[in-house]
Amino acid sequence: MTTPTIELKPSAHPLSAAEREAILANPGFGRHFTDHMVTIKWTEGRGWHDGQLVPYAPISLDPATTVLHYAQEIFEGLKAYRQPDGSVATFRPEKNAERFQRSARRLAMPELPVETFIEACDALVAQDQAWVPAHGGEESLYLRPFMIATEVGLGVKPANEYLFLVIASPAGAYFPGGVKPVSIWVSEDRVRAVPGGMGDAKTGGNYAASLLAQAEAAAKGCDQVCYLDAVEHTWVEELGGMNLYFVYGNKIVTPALSGSILEGVTRDSLLGVARDLGYEAVEERVSVEQWQRDSENGTLTEVFACGTAAVITPVGTVKRASGEWQQGGGEPGEVTLRLRQALLDIQRGTAEDKHGWMRKL
Ligand code: COI
Repeated sequence: MTTPTIELKPSAHPLSAAEREAILANPGFGRHFTDHMVTIKWTEGRGWHDGQLVPYAPISLDPATTVLHYAQEIFEGLKAYRQPDGSVATFRPEKNAERFQRSARRLAMPELPVETFIEACDALVAQDQAWVPAHGGEESLYLRPFMIATEVGLGVKPANEYLFLVIASPAGAYFPGGVKPVSIWVSEDRVRAVPGGMGDAKTGGNYAASLLAQAEAAAKGCDQVCYLDAVEHTWVEELGGMNLYFVYGNKIVTPALSGSILEGVTRDSLLGVARDLGYEAVEERVSVEQWQRDSENGTLTEVFACGTAAVITPVGTVKRASGEWQQGGGEPGEVTLRLRQALLDIQRGTAEDKHGWMRKL
């Protein structure tokens, strides 16, 4: 099967520079989209074809399109950063491309070649590079590649047609408070994913499943929900859309991948960044009892959430049915901020990229 090259059909009506600059001055998260998008089709027997870079626009779907009924959908999130010399670079797109392939396998979808995924992201960023926010701030251009089943029909089976798209959105802080600590509700009854399920795939269904528990967290006055494992209701898994890290002085722990935890690119990068800075960074099981006990006895000094959208966000108050505690003094921890800065320095091109993570356009 051939890999399509992406044909450019530029927008005849891009936003004016003044309109774009007004959006870039305060982009929020996921509220505004750039002038173009990439689309590539897949058809059984033909493979990937008709790669196009077209004006950003609504897509039209038959009401019986299978994704609307059976949720055969996967997505990714990665960012492009303005570099000090004005150029643009994306962060570890091949990691997202590889995870996209794993998600596709889990949802019985066709695998997009890694190089096509990267080519699609490159093409969109190159075309819409005026949308990449200025160097040095919190802002970046968030890329959202995704794939949907587009066969029309109500039979439950892997579709015979798919559409891959990449859209882009200028992004500021995911949480309105920026690096202000977020509060967490530990849900001990609702679960995000089960062993043998699709918790390690990046598919919309996992996020839909998290919304009720997220609403319950909000009703308890918390910003985010934290899930425990589905069998013992004991082991910390992840938040609704972010991984977690626990800081024990010089030792930094993230819950070990269990099959129901999403393998975050930021999670993985922080293992490397932390080791570069001389920390012991490990993947281990962490129980909610241990979390509460070690916070209360002071050995667990900091906790933070991490993800492409959230970058690194400190955790402040933690609540569970049996009580609550305060992580640190309610201020972002020193290690949290150090790791955050070290990662952002690489992404913004102000520190050496010794792992070869940045892809310059
Ligand atoms: C990301 O961090 O890129 C995600 O996909 C998570 C979502 C909460 C925005």
